[in-house]
Amino acid sequence: MDAAAPLLFFDSGVGGLSVLGPTKALLPNAPIVYVADSAAFPYGTRSEAEIAARVPALLGRLTERFRPRLAVIACNTASTIALPFVRAALDIPVVGTVPAIKPAAERSRTRVIGVLGTEATVRQPYVDDLAARFAADCTVLRHGSAELVALAEAKLAGEPIDPAAVTAAVSPLTGHGMDVVVLACTHFPLLAEELAVAFPGVAQVDGGPGIARRIAHLTAGQQWPVQPSPGTAVFTGGGPNAQLARALQRYNLDDIRHV
Ligand code: DGL
Repeated sequence: MDAAAPLLFFDSGVGGLSVLGPTKALLPNAPIVYVADSAAFPYGTRSEAEIAARVPALLGRLTERFRPRLAVIACNTASTIALPFVRAALDIPVVGTVPAIKPAAERSRTRVIGVLGTEATVRQPYVDDLAARFAADCTVLRHGSAELVALAEAKLAGEPIDPAAVTAAVSPLTGHGMDVVVLACTHFPLLAEELAVAFPGVAQVDGGPGIARRIAHLTAGQQWPVQPSPGTAVFTGGGPNAQLARALQRYNLDDIRHV
């Protein structure tokens, strides 16, 4: 394995940064290519057919171009719909992001948990299956919000976020005794403070730290550069404004490209 071979992170937008952050904490010298499919953002309001066709084809092209050692689909929507197709299309390990229903059910005392994702994610049979396997004795509330995705993008682009807009976007989940909410969209941990105001006393669970551990496990024993190198952020459509470019720099994503 070439020490310079990167980890490739893939999302529709900036949500994958919530997976990249914990991964960099475990693997600080890992070369990173972060891809935002901004040309097709947002995924959460698209059909299953669109996502299942687009994501494997795009990841195939990106893998040829950047030669990663491993790809991370840092997007619940893409993972719950297209993960098997991506694995079939690529000859490298592919790590997906699926709603953290199991740890949420383990933690809940009220036995009411929420799954907050995109509209596309919360309707997936994959979520039914996780709920049946790991939270059979819980009431599993589901809510999909495209607005929350847009608010997370706006926050990283430096726009002021109205906490009342976040509270309104998640209001269908309040008032049912939920004590744990699964952030089943990688954009949502970027709004953790605002969600803490919207859901006082409710624990937030997301898959980022678990995915980071999985990546570290799958690459254990591999060579890495001796020091961190600048990472690359790739946009398939509209690129970042100055504020978002600064936010990307906080993740060492200094080299911004368009494909
Ligand atoms: N970040 C993505 C997810 O985890 C999707 C957001 C979107 O494009 O709608 O589901």
